[in-house]
Amino acid sequence: MTAPTPSPSARPDVERLRGYSAPLEGRRGLLRLDFNENTIGPSPAVVEALRAFPADQIAVYPEYDGLREAVIGNLQDSPAGLAHALLPQQVGLFNGVDAAIHAVIHAYGASGDTLLTTSPTFGYYAPCAGMQGMVVEAVPHELPGFRFPLEAMRAALQRGPKILMLCNPNNPTGTRLSAEHVLLLASSAPDTLVVVDELYEAFTGDSVLPHVDFAEHANLLVLRSLAKTAGLAGLRMGFAIGSAEVVDRVCRVSGPYDVNSFAVTAAFAALSDQAYTDHYVAEVLRARNYLVTELTRSGAVFHVDGGNYLLVWPRFSAQQVEQQLRDAGILVRSMAGKPQIDGSLRVSIGTQEQMQRFWECYRKLER
Ligand SMILES: Cc1ncc(COP(=O)(O)O)c(C=O)c1O
Repeated sequence: MTAPTPSPSARPDVERLRGYSAPLEGRRGLLRLDFNENTIGPSPAVVEALRAFPADQIAVYPEYDGLREAVIGNLQDSPAGLAHALLPQQVGLFNGVDAAIHAVIHAYGASGDTLLTTSPTFGYYAPCAGMQGMVVEAVPHELPGFRFPLEAMRAALQRGPKILMLCNPNNPTGTRLSAEHVLLLASSAPDTLVVVDELYEAFTGDSVLPHVDFAEHANLLVLRSLAKTAGLAGLRMGFAIGSAEVVDRVCRVSGPYDVNSFAVTAAFAALSDQAYTDHYVAEVLRARNYLVTELTRSGAVFHVDGGNYLLVWPRFSAQQVEQQLRDAGILVRSMAGKPQIDGSLRVSIGTQEQMQRFWECYRKLER
């Protein structure tokens, strides 16, 4: 028997990488409160559009005409609107915001450059930086309350990081940042690309988009997705919105057809039924109030701020409670090993009925 031939090594940065680990299997049929997804599905208009998808379009590459304009129209029509008109070339289309994050870091981060962010934050920034050989500088949130570390961030920006990643509201702490502070940070470091991941902004209304003029803040890039509120996580559709120059550089490192035709069709339908998304967001906010009331009444240790999620510290081991919830058909996400929030569980918020089901189960485990 010959010894197996070793496979060739990847780049040293990749060999060293610890990838983003998301449990992707065994979730079907359970109440999924572990990934901050929409828990009821997209607008019926999306389902209808997908059912009517013409077979001949499967055989040809996707076409994106009009989608950037539809994104801009949707932003313009939102209650806060846009202070400055956007051009289609200021909107980049991506296979989810994950792909946009990957592309931004690929386009702007060279080996040895610094990516500045907060800690704890969304777990995909660090592996993307690592792939490029970037150094991650993560500024801790201010305790108590996981407040945004504004002064420490301003000081860190003076050291000239290549990219600043701001997650607003922050996943998983819910930390909020005002548009005024985002613009202040961007103005103080014109050579740093300031990326604001606004995946959960619908739950706070803190978006910087109604306030920014990209001609003045050409170093700012905003990420939006149809995953969490419009319910298209399974189809993957994300947007990067900024100056035409930055959007162009970020799109240069993506494939020409990375966004597929089903996602395009679903995105048009979702964008044209904003009422459905607004309704879902309102339901989640109601359900969050309900759960917060119950948690407060029971004396539980928890933290809630922006976003469709909150953190709860169980009386017994988080690992054990996570497993017991899973046994009862409910998934939540353990924050084990994350700085500041080790020992907590992140619970995504769905509808009031779903949160009642969660609470009935959780409070029994806490007794
Ligand atoms: C802060 C944040 N950004 C980006 C993503 C990924 O978004 P998408 O599904 O659009 O790729 C997530 C998903 O959990 C997230 O929490």
